[in-house]
Amino acid sequence: MNLQGIDHIELYVGDARQAAFYYCTAFGFQVHAQGGPETGLKGQRSLLVGQGDIRMVLTSALGPDHPAAEFVSKHGDGVAVIAIEVDDATSAYERFVERGATPVSSPARYALGDASVTTAEVGGFGDVVHRLVQRDGPRAEFLPGVFTMSEVDPAVEGRLLGTIDHFAVCVPSNTLEATVKYYHDVFGFEEIFEEYIQVGEQAMFSKVVQSTSKLVTLTMLEPDPTRQAGQIDDFLRWHGGAGVQHVAFTADDIVGTVRALGERGVHFAKTPATYYAALHQRMSDLVVPVSDLQDVGVLVDRDHWGHLLQIFTESMHVRRTLFLEVIERRGALTFGSGNIKALYEAKNRELTGVAR
Ligand code: FE2
Repeated sequence: MNLQGIDHIELYVGDARQAAFYYCTAFGFQVHAQGGPETGLKGQRSLLVGQGDIRMVLTSALGPDHPAAEFVSKHGDGVAVIAIEVDDATSAYERFVERGATPVSSPARYALGDASVTTAEVGGFGDVVHRLVQRDGPRAEFLPGVFTMSEVDPAVEGRLLGTIDHFAVCVPSNTLEATVKYYHDVFGFEEIFEEYIQVGEQAMFSKVVQSTSKLVTLTMLEPDPTRQAGQIDDFLRWHGGAGVQHVAFTADDIVGTVRALGERGVHFAKTPATYYAALHQRMSDLVVPVSDLQDVGVLVDRDHWGHLLQIFTESMHVRRTLFLEVIERRGALTFGSGNIKALYEAKNRELTGVAR
């Protein structure tokens, strides 16, 4: 079964209109479509925001009985759906359920003119589900007949962010192996990277799983319960179980993007000057001037294939849970141990500075 890539993600949020205004103003997204009871979306209001190849649905419940109400009450705002494009949603759904996936929604077809979209849903981790999306015919419609498309201004389409690179997923201790096995057995994901990360007295196990198409990547993180409780334990407590800790968006020019987002009011985790002093020796072949990276706080590492540049935003929600990452890959295909540790150290500095 070919998983062609991320079709879109859906966040359940307290107020979809306010969240859309935030993502558009701070991150350069535009509203691409809207739906609600008047278009057949029962009990919910949804806005589709987009930028580059990124499509993000922001959904709020209009009453207590909608699943988004329960999700937000339990977890706060967060990623509820990671939708994956497939050739045939019905056969993918049947095959995944046969292999042990939890069935969530059986196949449904939406059509308008020649455009048709078939979706079906299976369980992922925690309360996050995977929506399988099959698109036939013209692709101008997001969900034909259910979302009304809006005019997008090409001049505003700033391309600060390009696509979704990966998701980081926190899971409770002693569930990492079972989660990795589920993704392997059901979806055929392969493990491409593993790391034991120590940050001070805290430690976490990490395994990265990826679809065979290499277009869907999940970095799974599990706290080491034998060490001091740390930020992964905090996430699990504040979020209320397993969930998406961060979504990583790609940038073609990370320094320019981070500067532009900073001007729009986005706050990023900070990195001390000592990190950059050591960087001169560690990365002598780096193409971006270290002074530029230091200026915006971007971290740099390499894998076997090339460099990768990364930065975390501060958590944007009251629970200090979901945040975003900006990543620029210059040849690197996986991750680097140095960056993972440095990113989590930066996140620790941010979280310890916040009253809980
Ligand atoms: Fe990441």
